[in-house]
Amino acid sequence: MIWAAVLLTTIMGFSATASDGWIAVELGVSITHDLENSPLQIKTDSEDGSKETVIVRFRSDQGDLAGAVLIWFSSPPKILLGKCDNIENFKNFSSTLPSETDKAWTITLSRFSEKRRVFVHCNNEEVLNVLISSTACERSEWDTTWSNDVEKIYFDSKDNASDYYRSGVCTGLKTEWTKTIETTTQFPVNSGTVVEVTCSNSDEVNKGSSKVTCSTGTIFTFDIEPNCSIPDCTGLKTTWINMIGDRQFPVSTGTVLSLSCNEGHELRGDKSVTCTKNKEFWYSEEPTCGEL
Ligand SMILES: *[C@@H]1O[C@H](CO)[C@@H](O)[C@H](O)[C@H]1NC(C)=O
Ligand SMILES: *[C@@H]1O[C@H](CO)[C@@H](O)[C@H](O)[C@H]1NC(C)=O
Ligand SMILES: *[C@@H]1O[C@H](CO)[C@@H](O)[C@H](O)[C@H]1NC(C)=O
Repeated sequence: MIWAAVLLTTIMGFSATASDGWIAVELGVSITHDLENSPLQIKTDSEDGSKETVIVRFRSDQGDLAGAVLIWFSSPPKILLGKCDNIENFKNFSSTLPSETDKAWTITLSRFSEKRRVFVHCNNEEVLNVLISSTACERSEWDTTWSNDVEKIYFDSKDNASDYYRSGVCTGLKTEWTKTIETTTQFPVNSGTVVEVTCSNSDEVNKGSSKVTCSTGTIFTFDIEPNCSIPDCTGLKTTWINMIGDRQFPVSTGTVLSLSCNEGHELRGDKSVTCTKNKEFWYSEEPTCGEL
């Protein structure tokens, strides 16, 4: 933390700072923050080798320690997960940090069943991804500590690197998507917000999820990555009434579909057809579903 810079930004740029949600860090103050639902972002301008340190601790509603993250600006910087890594045993990040001195760190704690995974992104690049476990942790308290639900965070009084923090927010769709995918959602949105996406080109069909969840920046989570393209077959022939295919549409050219009929109807003609083009199929005897 460079005090002159902080002071200048505070005087000159308060509204700009407030509008993008960054809040100046106050040390030792407990802040309500549900980390499992909202990643924590921290802004630093510490130089590599300055030996400044981010020390942010997590607590449960009852005040029990629920984890901690320390980032040590050695050259290159290192990281320590509190009550998991041994004290002072800072680790290298798993990939090279972005070269900018101004960094926005995003700490994400995801929970699936009883397990916890910690992600750290630096300027939107993943630099750490650790499953909190007996394999990853050297300290025996990892389990009791990291299994607590994080409801509060605080910056330790010895933290001399963290300048600003905010909840994870999304600033826009993933850049790779923007050519083919659009949304009516106005950004920024808070992390956790579900964003509906559609194909920009009405001839195209989204083969992936139509709902994605904001994580932070331009990072989203989804079941299947949204992907718009001209579909091969979007459905059975419209004249094939009461007929059902055994696949979810769209399917690509060459896909063989086994057919069946709605209740009260029986299939005549071919029992399977091959998609050749949108709503066009190859068959030798045209299938129909006639009443029983
Ligand atoms: C920042 O804090 C760390 C950890 O408390 C300390 O070791 C370091 O000397 C401090 N650095 C500066 C530049 O104040
Ligand atoms: C961490 O990174 C430093 C500098 O890049 C390297 O010298 C060291 O071997 C690395 N340590 C481990 C445990 O990989
Ligand atoms: C979208 O799908 C096409 C082909 O189905 C594939 O080549 C491409 O990599 C996919 N793009 C993304 C962003 O998943």
